[in-house]
Amino acid sequence: MNAPGQIDAALARLRAGEVVAFPTETVYGLGADALRARAVERVFALKGRPSNNPLIVHVADIAGARRVVADWPTDAQMLAQRFWPGPLTLVLKRAPSVPTIVTGGGDTVAVRCPDHPMALDLLRAFGGPLVAPSANPSGRVSPTTAAHVSAAFNERDVLVLDGGPCRVGIESTVLSLVGEPTILRQGAVSASQIADVIGRRPRSGADASSAGALPSPGMLPSHYAPAAQTILFDAHSMPREWRDSPRHVTLLALTSGESTSPQTRGPRQRIQMPSVPDAYAARLYAALREADRGDESVILVERPSAAGELWDAIRDRLARAAAPRA
Ligand code: TXA
Ligand code: MG
Repeated sequence: MNAPGQIDAALARLRAGEVVAFPTETVYGLGADALRARAVERVFALKGRPSNNPLIVHVADIAGARRVVADWPTDAQMLAQRFWPGPLTLVLKRAPSVPTIVTGGGDTVAVRCPDHPMALDLLRAFGGPLVAPSANPSGRVSPTTAAHVSAAFNERDVLVLDGGPCRVGIESTVLSLVGEPTILRQGAVSASQIADVIGRRPRSGADASSAGALPSPGMLPSHYAPAAQTILFDAHSMPREWRDSPRHVTLLALTSGESTSPQTRGPRQRIQMPSVPDAYAARLYAALREADRGDESVILVERPSAAGELWDAIRDRLARAAAPRA
């Protein structure tokens, strides 16, 4: 189907209260009418997502955002003007029109305008806000291609719009503007870039939770996790026990050379990861999926050590992929 045909089919589904997966610049989202509680319930059910974990409301522009929030502070206006469409989600006070199922029962709502032509076409044609969590079963690795989404959901339940591979590859930065500006999830828009716009550095989620505020529920330690056992190691120190393992071992390598060639007894695979952070982020989730051969397999990840805020966001995702399951 051509792009306009796909959008028409998606609109029909959305208007019937059904679920449509669509591409964004970060990852694919599982979209539904944000103002219809029954449609949003379908998204929670399909993902197997706990009902206290709120969804991001996607909008076509600033005007769309203002319709789902109770107030629109100057910081929000400046940040949206600078970074939208783009990978920055703003948490603000919820407008009464937003069903509480969207917000996990809370009085704040997360909102963002995605930077992908297909997402923007869909939002404009739909004419209202769409919830869109990442289009993966809860706790699993986010999808960065249409095929990743189709592998997880039945086409009768979810129509998948194919907009090619996602450019950014990791989920949006989530910034709360309720109280002191606080980053709840790191992403491609960095704390320094935010500080440049609002004139002060946002706090990090870690400071916020030590100060007693509730962290973002999506920030539970084990998240973005492959089925395979995932292990991080520093450059040139690949854990010995995996060198001679009969299990299927895949190495996500950063450096090249002898110390990072897996000399295992069992089946093995080596995936060379890009050395620049933008390309690494864009490749990460697809690489984790290629490496994942189920819960008997092992993924060894050479931890990037370079300084940089996008590398920090990548390290955050890697730590979650390797965290023990709850
Ligand atoms: O890049 C993205 O943001 C992607 C694409 C599809 O837009 N979406 C995404 O959605 O990552 P999801 O549902 O997988 O992650 C949303 C995150 C979760 O950590 C959730 O807890 C947090 O945003 N969140 C949503 N609403 C919130 C709120 N009102 N207060 C605090 N955190 C919120
Ligand atoms: Mg997610």
